[in-house]
Amino acid sequence: QDYDLGDHPDFMHKEISEQPAAARRVLGGRLDDRFATAHLGGIRLEPRELRGIRRVTFLGCGSAYYAGQMGASLVEELARIPADAEPASEFRYRNPVVDPDTLYVAVSQSGETLDTLMAVQELQRKGGRVVGVVNAVGSAIARQCGQGIFLHAGPEVSVASTKALTNMTISFALLALLLGRVRDLSAADGRRLVSALLDLPDRIEEVLRSEPEVQAVAKQFAGARHMFFLGRVRGWPVAREGAQKLKEISYIHAEAYQASELKHGPLALIDSSMPSVVILPDDELYAKNLSTVEQIRARGGPVIVVTNADVPGDLADAVLRVPRSEPELDPVLLTIPLQLLAYHVALELGRDIDKPRNLAKSVTVE
Ligand code: G6P
Repeated sequence: QDYDLGDHPDFMHKEISEQPAAARRVLGGRLDDRFATAHLGGIRLEPRELRGIRRVTFLGCGSAYYAGQMGASLVEELARIPADAEPASEFRYRNPVVDPDTLYVAVSQSGETLDTLMAVQELQRKGGRVVGVVNAVGSAIARQCGQGIFLHAGPEVSVASTKALTNMTISFALLALLLGRVRDLSAADGRRLVSALLDLPDRIEEVLRSEPEVQAVAKQFAGARHMFFLGRVRGWPVAREGAQKLKEISYIHAEAYQASELKHGPLALIDSSMPSVVILPDDELYAKNLSTVEQIRARGGPVIVVTNADVPGDLADAVLRVPRSEPELDPVLLTIPLQLLAYHVALELGRDIDKPRNLAKSVTVE
């Protein structure tokens, strides 16, 4: 029945809708309320080894890379370990310095992406420690890594990744929680995250109920030739993933930028024909992001705000709202309206949603 569309017009819509259930599966049995930590049975590293990790590097391609960027910020925030993400395709070609105290995380929905597999093999050849975060059990990357976290998102058919990406980010929150709790993260903070994670599937369900509003916004903006996606810090990988989705399935040119860099170049492009999607989390950077919205509007640029803050409806040309979670987990919820936006823009334009031109679900060649 996984390959049966049911009531959905296509697989992307089906897979977007499956996210609450998929999120419940990736969390299932992995949260420990008593010790305020995560259990990841597939990662066979002793607490002593976990404490010895000096850096975490996420490697993946496409959406898996953007998810990795969300993972890097979760690890930095919760475990206070330096962390970064790099496209696996770049990593394998630049003769990377392999550091024995780094934990490398290979991220892949299919587990078959050749660039990611080659990066894993190169790392292992040079003594690197790699764990896989993979959806497809028994896949090449899962086998090559030998340990890691399975995503349990169920089969994903649509080329544009939705439920697998959401589960990647949730898995990274679990990993960050585990790393944090053998280091400096307090039990109180751990508990705060455990309960927010348990709550997440219901919050995702809530976001999905706003689909009619997103659809109306998509109709309003489907005529755009170009779009900006802007975010700061936690919002930056959200913006990148949002731009990626729109490009992939609607063929509208979308560019993601750090909101903080707007004044250093891209502001010159703002006019009434260049809409911007601004990620506006209700966090410590709220005022900064609000002024980004104002700067764009002052130059006649249309703005779509994606937010969990109590903003007035006339703050922007469109406001897409998501419920609050804990700030570290905001990216999970803020990403979902962007999936729906790309989806409904593509639908409006009559695109082949599940099979965008020139793309493959998994790229197993050079
Ligand atoms: C292809 C797909 C992307 C996907 C990427 C990584 O390029 O078109 O949607 O994000 O591969 O796939 P993986 O299976 O490794 O997550």
